[in-house]
Amino acid sequence: MASTTSTARMLPGAPVARRLLDDVAERSRALRESGTVPSLATILVGDDAASAGYIRIKQRQAADLGFSSPHVHLPADTTEDVLHHAIADLNDDPAVHALLIQYPVPDHLDYAAALMAVAPDKDVDGMHPTNLGRLAAGIAGPTPCTPAGIEALLAHYEIPIRGREVVILGRGATLGRPLAMLLAQKRPTADAAVTVVHTGVEDWARYTRRADVLIAAAGVPGIVQPEHVRPGATVIGGGVRYAGRRLLPDVDESCAAVAGAITPRVGGVGPTTVAMLFQNAIAAAERALRRQAPM
Ligand SMILES: NC(=O)c1ccc[n+]([C@@H]2O[C@H](COP(=O)([O-])OP(=O)(O)OC[C@H]3O[C@@H](n4cnc5c(N)ncnc54)[C@H](OP(=O)(O)O)[C@@H]3O)[C@@H](O)[C@H]2O)c1
Repeated sequence: MASTTSTARMLPGAPVARRLLDDVAERSRALRESGTVPSLATILVGDDAASAGYIRIKQRQAADLGFSSPHVHLPADTTEDVLHHAIADLNDDPAVHALLIQYPVPDHLDYAAALMAVAPDKDVDGMHPTNLGRLAAGIAGPTPCTPAGIEALLAHYEIPIRGREVVILGRGATLGRPLAMLLAQKRPTADAAVTVVHTGVEDWARYTRRADVLIAAAGVPGIVQPEHVRPGATVIGGGVRYAGRRLLPDVDESCAAVAGAITPRVGGVGPTTVAMLFQNAIAAAERALRRQAPM
């Protein structure tokens, strides 16, 4: 790749995540002072070392934030029935406010069905169909973490999107589609004119080239090149693919020579996604407490 001179302002995710997590810690302290320990439960099926590592990181982070983090570890040959019983037990446990099922599960299990079995109010990923429905209807509830993290990142760096043209490349269920719904909502940190492009739009560059904010959500390494970016635009790299442990982002690094602001190759959207998981968890604990409060 030709070397390029970056003139773009970098938009790292870490300071955004720090602020979001500080807010979680504050709200966690308030809950504990009123006698409720916020709780994020995790389920791991099998012995995949990377998955076990991710769970340990989340548990450490949970402890730092004053959460309890009950953990259920099921063997790799767990049946669908046993997994669903474990989910039901945590759904029914009033001391558990939020629940995470570590992805992936062994091939013989249906991850989507497991997610559907999680009580929507405890859905820490915000991906349960009930929560996607709430998002579409503008009803408060757990919000999909990566889209919410992108909105928080734009707000943190005071990138104006209200009334501006935001173009999202990709309409996937995890990122592009919920992000489009979120950024089109009538709120001060959203309120954008959102366009979504995909493989059905052959000349998608026609749209990305006029975007004030271009968000890559395709999962196709290097799909966004400088010629797809309007000079001075903000470019957010959401889509990534992994080749082993190597991260291959949608946005080619050379875009930094054209963009006005851009997320870094590593450490952009990722940290905000994790922080949003804890934002969803603390909000779930607060909701549970409000439901218990005498009227
Ligand atoms: N950074 C994070 O924390 C984080 C978290 C979650 C997800 N992600 C990443 O976000 C990406 C999207 O995930 P997803 O599940 O929402 O999406 P997905 O289901 O994989 O869909 C990808 C989308 O990109 C479009 N696309 C693919 N190739 C294209 C091309 N050549 N030209 C135009 N459009 C193209 C597809 O169009 P069609 O619909 O027409 O097929 C589809 O809408 C993935 O890379 C995932 O790893 C990142």
